[in-house]
Amino acid sequence: MGEAQTPNTGREQDQGDEARTHFGYSDVPLGEKQRLVDDVFHKVAQRYDVMNDVMSGGLHRIWKDILVGKVHPSTRAPFNHLDVAGGTGDVAFRVAKAGGAQTKVTVLDINGDMLDVGRDRAVKKGLASQLSFVEANAEELPFPDAQFDAYTIAFGIRNVPRIDKALQEAYRVLKRGGHFLCLEFSQVEAPALAKIYESYSFSMIPLMGRLITGEAEPYRYLVESIRQFPPAEEFRAMIEQAGFQRASFTRLTGGVVAIHSGWKL
Ligand SMILES: C[S@@+](CC[C@H](N)C(=O)[O-])C[C@H]1O[C@@H](n2cnc3c(N)ncnc32)[C@H](O)[C@@H]1O
Repeated sequence: MGEAQTPNTGREQDQGDEARTHFGYSDVPLGEKQRLVDDVFHKVAQRYDVMNDVMSGGLHRIWKDILVGKVHPSTRAPFNHLDVAGGTGDVAFRVAKAGGAQTKVTVLDINGDMLDVGRDRAVKKGLASQLSFVEANAEELPFPDAQFDAYTIAFGIRNVPRIDKALQEAYRVLKRGGHFLCLEFSQVEAPALAKIYESYSFSMIPLMGRLITGEAEPYRYLVESIRQFPPAEEFRAMIEQAGFQRASFTRLTGGVVAIHSGWKL
């Protein structure tokens, strides 16, 4: 277990090329972080979905359902949705199903291995015609301004080295009236629950990772990166800083995760 750490606000970019940031509990050059994150997700891509179920006891499904309930895609009009750091497609599939034939979802991720798993799953689920997969960086979205009705990022933003840049890009590609939604790990508030959660995260999760995938290290990073993410109030301020209005958040499961919301008005 590590000592107290400074959260990764993504503001380190202001300090120039020599800036440093966190990779889990390690201090790394800002320019190195993405490669290290990519290594983690290359290693876990094939077992990512099964590990999500095992680690969260299936809770991630409920959290994603609640997230998509807030997206609320139109079932009658065209709806253009972007799911960033979309990985193997869990959120995108839910949005596509909730909306119907006129809902188009772009799944964007920096990691081709995660997207490959997502593409296969989309075909098996009969959703391929509503989905497109784009390999790109959340910090530099390859889309013109004002394209999307809604933007989601689930368990992705804490992996992005320059969070400020990703938020600015989210704002840029949303239409006026567009909705930004982010599902991310947060701070458990009740001290008793926090203690249980802490010991579960640091001992059980890497162990389960090793038993199921043969690798403990990627799961140690996942747990550490959760602790480095800014508290919900601070992240809300970052969302406002990017230009979003009516920024708010809802804690779920005692604060294990939070859903952040902001509007481009
Ligand atoms: C924990 S997974 C989340 C996947 C999916 N959203 C879900 O909830 O199951 C994090 C994803 O973020 C992606 N990612 C990390 N850095 C990124 C970046 N800079 N731009 C886009 N995606 C990124 C990783 O490749 C990985 O697929």
